[in-house]
Amino acid sequence: MKTIIISHSKDLNSAADIIKKGGLVAAPTETVYGLCANALNSCAVSNIFIAKGRPSDNPLIVHIAGRDMLYNLAIDVSEEAVLLMDAFWPGPLTLVFKASSIVPKIVTGGLDTVAVRFPSHPTMQKLINLSGFPLAAPSANTSGKPSPTNAKRVIEDLDGKVEAIIDGGNSEFGVESTVLDMTSKVPTILRPGGITLEMLQQVLEDVTVDPAISHSLSNNALPKAPGMKYTHYSPNAEVFIVRGDLKKVTDKINTLIQAHHKAGKTVGVLATEETKHLFNANLTLSVGTSQNLSTIAAQLFEDLRTFDDHHMDIVYSLAFPKTGIGEAIMNRLEKSAAHNIIDV
Ligand code: TXA
Ligand code: MG
Repeated sequence: MKTIIISHSKDLNSAADIIKKGGLVAAPTETVYGLCANALNSCAVSNIFIAKGRPSDNPLIVHIAGRDMLYNLAIDVSEEAVLLMDAFWPGPLTLVFKASSIVPKIVTGGLDTVAVRFPSHPTMQKLINLSGFPLAAPSANTSGKPSPTNAKRVIEDLDGKVEAIIDGGNSEFGVESTVLDMTSKVPTILRPGGITLEMLQQVLEDVTVDPAISHSLSNNALPKAPGMKYTHYSPNAEVFIVRGDLKKVTDKINTLIQAHHKAGKTVGVLATEETKHLFNANLTLSVGTSQNLSTIAAQLFEDLRTFDDHHMDIVYSLAFPKTGIGEAIMNRLEKSAAHNIIDV
């Protein structure tokens, strides 16, 4: 299949026509790029799973461009959910509801719930409105890889597998949306993201976090968001997080690098602006300044992919504070490191 690249500033009718005919279009959102198909067309949605190589029990988020669309997809939309929508929609908050009968089972991975998100990105909104359907859209990466935050990375994974890719520049948030389960007694964060726990707590009295998020899943905890159990965000390199006092972390990483170099391995370090000059790695990347977690979130996946461009065997990463969007950053980083954490 020949994939066409469309600039976000161009007429998006051709992209919408592809969706209407049951095809696949990758498009920018404010979080990461999404791989979109008509959510109400099972056959179109099945092609998403094929293009990504995604396990079929991992459900997709349905993207809408207005609240009216929600009431066709979901039942039992609570007052609390309305408060959240007032506060955070459009934006990087996905809400899980009981699914209505129009939602195909392939979208929900066989669950009786559906995850719905109203993205704020104008291009994504336009694509939904022009096609006239809610769009099922996972992140537009090969399953298991870090999510793409620019069109170049989408092309890398999906060229020849989708009809079109809309280029909308760099994603604003860089980590995926917060997934919040509204079907449990107390709304529960299933995946941390752009809308933080602190932000949710300003609207809801009671919010909780799925314990499976913070633990290695070898501890028997089965996550409620099926996607959280799979290998994720993994570059080809083996990733380790080194945590503790900065001087000790730097010394530890440099000692490890020396040993790896003796063994003929290439080593990358994911550092910050403030620390990038401290390491003797083959490739040290700054993910941003430690003063600004939002810019780190926006750069994280791109840096993980850059280590692969340079064929690093091993990557050491600093740890970041788990406050605000730091919770999402560390969740993604810990998964990319398969929970390999070295405390010093
Ligand atoms: O920011 C985002 O959410 C991006 C952009 C493209 O919108 N999309 C995204 O989709 O990250 P995906 O498929 O990569 O991740 C969706 C997550 C998975 O962990 C999945 O298991 C969970 O949401 N999920 C989807 N439907 C669910 C449901 N009914 N119940 C629980 N978890 C669900
Ligand atoms: Mg994904």
